[in-house]
Amino acid sequence: MHCAQKMTHNIYWIGSNDWTTERFENLFPIPNGVSYNSYFIDDEKTCVVDSVDAEIREEYFDNLTYLLNGRDLDYIIVNHMEPDHCQTLLETLERYPNCKMVGNATTFRMFEQFYNSPKPDQYYTVKEGDEICLGKHTLVSYTMPMVHWPEVTCTYEKSTGTLFSADAFGTFGTVNGNIFADQTDFIATYEDEARRYYTNIVGKYGPQVQNAIRKVSGLDIKRIAPLHGPIWRTPETIDYILHKYLHWSSYTAEKKGVVIAFGSMYGNTRAIAQQLAKQLSKRGVT
Ligand SMILES: [Fe+2]
Ligand SMILES: [Fe+2]
Repeated sequence: MHCAQKMTHNIYWIGSNDWTTERFENLFPIPNGVSYNSYFIDDEKTCVVDSVDAEIREEYFDNLTYLLNGRDLDYIIVNHMEPDHCQTLLETLERYPNCKMVGNATTFRMFEQFYNSPKPDQYYTVKEGDEICLGKHTLVSYTMPMVHWPEVTCTYEKSTGTLFSADAFGTFGTVNGNIFADQTDFIATYEDEARRYYTNIVGKYGPQVQNAIRKVSGLDIKRIAPLHGPIWRTPETIDYILHKYLHWSSYTAEKKGVVIAFGSMYGNTRAIAQQLAKQLSKRGVT
């Protein structure tokens, strides 16, 4: 059953949620689940921006089939080759043999390494600044190396000011009907998970994040569509997440305070840690 949602002029969210996986990438606990976002652009040429994890394969193909309504798929933009977005890529290319897979040389190399099924006739290579015209919509590709994999790109759609930002600006936690951040109480519901997502997934690459933000800062961004979590579409929410990313990528604390980390074999270090906490508290330190 399709469950696509309209994002803006002929652009649809065709993602879905994963409530059952306990650890994202088999590593990070996700008690609130995660969404895998994918997008469909309905124009003279049809286009998908990133595919999805195998966990939501059925919903993705149901959404895509519904929106294509019998037409062929012309392009699939691959902003990121990580399997949580590409486990359905090969099947997409095989279901739609006329579809061009848009990426860079590293994208195609990774695709062949992962899936052992080269599709050179379907490769469509883009470089920094290259444009693809779908009709009313025009897509521009920008490289975003090491945010957080080497092949990563983001794609800007000019007519709607939509930035498809790959994993950047994403969040752990499912999107429950409300696909836009401004429809949610984001700070109460998602902010901790957004911070944990940033720290776990992208946190190591602070300078690269800052370079990416600098690169897109000249664009007229009206919405940011990441690959996980809610979409940013109001000036307030876009400003909020850009500032969070600038802050987090600078490795400076959001609040002044002290963390005491300790391990204790026989309880002596534990006693010292507690004494230290007490003494700091007496001095007004949180
Ligand atoms: Fe990723
Ligand atoms: Fe991802």
